[in-house]
Amino acid sequence: AFPKQVRLVEMSPRDGLQNEPGPVIATRIKTGLIDRLADCGLPHIESASFVSPKWVPQMGDAAKVMAGINRKAGVRYSVLTPNLRGFENALEAGVDEVAVFGAASESFSQKNINCSIAESLERFLPVMEAANKHNIPVRGYVSTVLGCPYEGDIAPEQVAKVAKDLADMGCYEISLGDTIGVGTPLKAKRMLEAVAKHVPVERLAAHFHDTYGQALANLYAVLEEGVAVIDASVAGLGGCPYAKGASGNVATEDVLYLLNGLGIDTGVDLNRLVATGDWISGQLKRHNGSKVGQALGGN
Ligand code: HMG
Ligand code: MG
Repeated sequence: AFPKQVRLVEMSPRDGLQNEPGPVIATRIKTGLIDRLADCGLPHIESASFVSPKWVPQMGDAAKVMAGINRKAGVRYSVLTPNLRGFENALEAGVDEVAVFGAASESFSQKNINCSIAESLERFLPVMEAANKHNIPVRGYVSTVLGCPYEGDIAPEQVAKVAKDLADMGCYEISLGDTIGVGTPLKAKRMLEAVAKHVPVERLAAHFHDTYGQALANLYAVLEEGVAVIDASVAGLGGCPYAKGASGNVATEDVLYLLNGLGIDTGVDLNRLVATGDWISGQLKRHNGSKVGQALGGN
């Protein structure tokens, strides 16, 4: 059955901007985006990454971004932390929540975080321990859950294994990433069913990129299975630097329009969200990647 409420986790300041080509985007544009997103009623905004700036130059100002936002009560501002060094920097920047990110594919793990899946889980352990000590919730990502740019098909059981490892380690929620957007609804449903045998559906989130235009259909399929947390990016901003050809997350405006049509509550204001998607597309001189944004927006 469909959930009555969905928590939208906004990805644009992190997944959306990490891959922007060209010069590093000004910190004030990043903080302006985050503050506007909070004003739309979004409850959870992934705001930056504390990763190596050599690997992801766009996220090099993470501490400045966290210092520059106007924190709104009730909004969770989370960041990516691949290792203890990232966690310590994030803690110093006063984040509410962090996320570790692993993959279901060995090759993708190597390309993205320069280690095997097993090594990545070992690196996450001290992050979990430190986060626990400071009462910081940790989200866990699994990438390439519906296909890998290097290995092709990924077995649902392999996704389930990594998801379970992250959950057992203490991640409160596991976000399942279709990193390169190759999934289709039946595949998404089967993957979700395999994972839900090991991690309760209440602890799962869908993180679907829209490269092949299937993300909304895939979301519909996992909503029917009871998934109630959806990652999305305003104006469809984004891509992954280590996944060639990948486009952004499904657009938040498009997901909200779908959820509104299903009568599922999110607490997010569609008009404000469309205006925010318009604004950031203008700032980045980028085509607005949301269909709903194009239909209702100013450009
Ligand atoms: P490494 O080279 O194996 O690690 O990188 P290292 O410990 O040998 O460090 C190398 C250099 O990075 C050193 O600097 C460290 O000090 C520095 P140097 O001595 O060369 O000057 N360093 C750091 N600097 C700042 N913050 C840190 C940090 N750690 C080390 N936390 C590492 C390993 C994980 C650091 C690297 O591979 C990395 O940063 N990768 C970034 C990966 C990334 O951000 N990918 C995009 C996000 S994931 C994603 O988009 C998928 C997702 O959306 C879900 C989906 O769609 O599937 C989540
Ligand atoms: Mg992603």
